[in-house]
Amino acid sequence: MARTDPHSYFDDAQPSTRHLGLELEVDFEGRGLDGWALLDLGEPSSGPLDLDTKGLDVYSVESEDGTEIPFELADEEPILGRRLRLDLPPGTRRFTIEYSSAIEALGLQWLDPAQTEGKRHPFLFSHFQPIHARTCMPVQDSPRARVTYRAAITVPKDLTAVMSAGSVGEQPGDRPGTRTFLFDMPQSIPTYLIALAVGDLSSHDISPRSRVWAEPATLDAAAHEFAEIEEMITTAEELFGPYEWDRYDMIVLPPSFPYGGMENPRLTFLTPTLLAGDRSLVDVVAHELAHSWTGNLVTNASVDHFWLNEGATVWAERRIVEALRGRDAAVLAWAIGEQALAAEFERFGAKAAVTRLRNDLEGTNPDDVYSSIPYEKGSRFLALLEQTTGRERFDAFIRRYIEKFRFTSITTEEFLELVEKELPGLAEKVDAQAWLYEPGMPRNAPVFRSGQLEALTALAGGFSAGERPTRAQIEGWSPAEMLVYLQHLPRTLDHDACAWLDDAMDLTSRGNYEILVEWLTIGASSDYEPVFRRVGEVLLRVGRMKYLRPLYKAMGASPRTRALARKIYAAASPGYHELSRRASEAVMAQYAD
Ligand code: BES
Ligand code: ZN
Repeated sequence: MARTDPHSYFDDAQPSTRHLGLELEVDFEGRGLDGWALLDLGEPSSGPLDLDTKGLDVYSVESEDGTEIPFELADEEPILGRRLRLDLPPGTRRFTIEYSSAIEALGLQWLDPAQTEGKRHPFLFSHFQPIHARTCMPVQDSPRARVTYRAAITVPKDLTAVMSAGSVGEQPGDRPGTRTFLFDMPQSIPTYLIALAVGDLSSHDISPRSRVWAEPATLDAAAHEFAEIEEMITTAEELFGPYEWDRYDMIVLPPSFPYGGMENPRLTFLTPTLLAGDRSLVDVVAHELAHSWTGNLVTNASVDHFWLNEGATVWAERRIVEALRGRDAAVLAWAIGEQALAAEFERFGAKAAVTRLRNDLEGTNPDDVYSSIPYEKGSRFLALLEQTTGRERFDAFIRRYIEKFRFTSITTEEFLELVEKELPGLAEKVDAQAWLYEPGMPRNAPVFRSGQLEALTALAGGFSAGERPTRAQIEGWSPAEMLVYLQHLPRTLDHDACAWLDDAMDLTSRGNYEILVEWLTIGASSDYEPVFRRVGEVLLRVGRMKYLRPLYKAMGASPRTRALARKIYAAASPGYHELSRRASEAVMAQYAD
């Protein structure tokens, strides 16, 4: 008996689920999923089988021939949930579990019509990474246990269901007023990549293999924003090998989606805050697309190896950006990441254990320690390997890595073994041990510089001494340049300086959320009243944690901003995802009073 993942009851000495069948009805009134899951073990099996569940009501477990299979739900463990132990009679290959999910299932967010763009229909989306699939289905909820899946999802007839799978049609539901959507995912994936969204959805084709889904009111903006995605896919294929997932579709979710993007295979989930109008935030799509190789083909074995997913993907994302838009653009992206990294070292402490790439998160809720560190430290480690061995050899290595580990879930040690085999001596040369196993930032971290970046940071550095960009300079800036400039300003400014910035750069009315939130953060922490209304608007509309954290944190600055934050939070939080509520409350718990 061996458990391989501190966040799952999956035991690799037991049979492993090969295929999952789901037949679920989406109950918007009761806010639950009801139905059954079929688990196929691929071969006749027997004995104990441990599954992960959290908040599920389990009604019965039956083998194919109708025999009841004894089961036992263990006591609730706060992070893992309840182990569901089955006692399989000899010869059991397939069995079904009848169950329903709980109203508070963390893997789902149910939206009232008022929280959608169209205001007429409810909406549901799932988010399972890293360990929330178990709140919606009884599964071996560890990335080591990969499954193919098929699903039949029944929804009210005016709504459309989409999943991280191929669509294989729809039919009238068993009950009047319902429709059933059918899906097939023939490639094996970790359970955290199973995904579902249901709402008033329509779609627009971008290329023969890519379309974007959104509510009708958002569809044109989404089609425009992501019109160039096919180019991005072909660029990524040139770098990392063929795109293996058949289609690359996207869905723009309502604004409460707690993340920027989620790489659900065949159907990337996206926040509508990407719809800046000028395609300036498509790097997030480059990131989710890159996960098609790093993350979805080659997956971390557990959250302890999360950097393998995210570090490799940030590195890949920036290679895509460089190939499409040139080196200066990539250097700006690295600089923006550098700021995020610095903020995290401040949040956790430079030597905190969670700043290690290879982690040990047993007993820790992974959502509590989610941060940019695996992303930015991880990608820098790979960039260091690339720079030290040379791009050509490193690119060949990455292709080999993907080829060797495709459709498997691996550990840091398995990664390191391949580095040693393919690029002998490199790991030692860069001190991979320190990068992977020690906290903090090693001194040999790669530095990304360009004339453009130097000029921006120097200009921002002179702000306190009265230096200002000219109108012509500001007009010539790309959104990324403006963001870098703002990020290098002091965090609090006097009100004259705030007024000057807002006037010169037209910040408060920005549609680019990266720039807008950077500015509002400066304004709020400077106790600058003219931004308060806009801060409230953003916090009431958007649930993306990347924006909630800095804004609520900035409002900790003064008694009146703290009071404002609490008032806004009281109004906004019912519309937030539970994860967004927790993230905001964690920030506000640090307030001085
Ligand atoms: N897979 C992540 C999101 C994630 C990771 C959610 C772990 C829950 C647990 C996704 O690919 C991601 O990194 N999204 C970023 C975008 C980005 C460009 C770094 C985000 O949401 O901000
Ligand atoms: Zn990612």
